[in-house]
Amino acid sequence: MDGQEKGPQQGMAPVAAEGTSDFTARLARLPASRLTGALGPMVAALQGLIRDVRPSRAEFRATLGYLTELGHHSDARRQEWVLLADALGLSALVEDLNSPRPEGATPNTVAGPFYRPDAPDRAPGATISLDGKGLPLAVSGRVTALAGGPLAGALVEVWQANGQGKYENQEPDLQPENNLRGRFRTDAQGRFAFTSVMPGGYALPSDGPVGRLMTSLGLCLERPAHIHFRVSAEGHERLTTQIFDRADPAIGRDAVFGVKPGLLADFRATSLPGGQTGRALELTLVLCPQRQS
Ligand SMILES: [Fe+2]
Repeated sequence: MDGQEKGPQQGMAPVAAEGTSDFTARLARLPASRLTGALGPMVAALQGLIRDVRPSRAEFRATLGYLTELGHHSDARRQEWVLLADALGLSALVEDLNSPRPEGATPNTVAGPFYRPDAPDRAPGATISLDGKGLPLAVSGRVTALAGGPLAGALVEVWQANGQGKYENQEPDLQPENNLRGRFRTDAQGRFAFTSVMPGGYALPSDGPVGRLMTSLGLCLERPAHIHFRVSAEGHERLTTQIFDRADPAIGRDAVFGVKPGLLADFRATSLPGGQTGRALELTLVLCPQRQS
């Protein structure tokens, strides 16, 4: 190497001058597709972000390092990228855009990472608490159509954390298999019922890059106590939602933006046979008709 700048090689066609941020112009010359249509605005937004924030080279390298760390914390058991999307409110936004609900229908919200499609069918009124640990909770509900009529034979899938805020698949050595989850069918009046224990609120994992980011910002990782429901009925859009304990102190600061006014419920104190105190939850889940695509 002689240390001198090389000019264009003899015989090569000259390359038109192109700005460093002309990636979107390159995309525009490609055949139109969903990928190019999404990538163009995304890159343009990122370039605009860089112009606005003007990161130093060190800050830019640190950002790339953070994204790399997110990948290193993601595998089949843990998905830090999903956690980031949840914590930034992106998952909730995608959910809202894909499943808008008409007035009067129960709002949908994120399913979260603990759903199991293979939970067992349970008899009407059965308990889903297989270890019996926790404050007893009686749940009775109805599934109705938007027009108000009952939906008989609807599938109601339920899953929740225990009183310590842990799902059974987080603690396979401590909780029975399929503890606090089950599948129920509504009766001719659209009703379903089961017994359980009060769910505890919980916090997103704090030992990874998402937890570190949120903690450094002074933002909380808490999720208020809730029960997950997924309801399927013929001719209706499937509803995936969570019902929250209105009295939970973390109700106004859900780390994943799942709380909506229509999903707050009273887990009211009640006395149970034998004088024991427990809680009771009554709810109505309203489904909307399947949209024609
Ligand atoms: Fe949850």
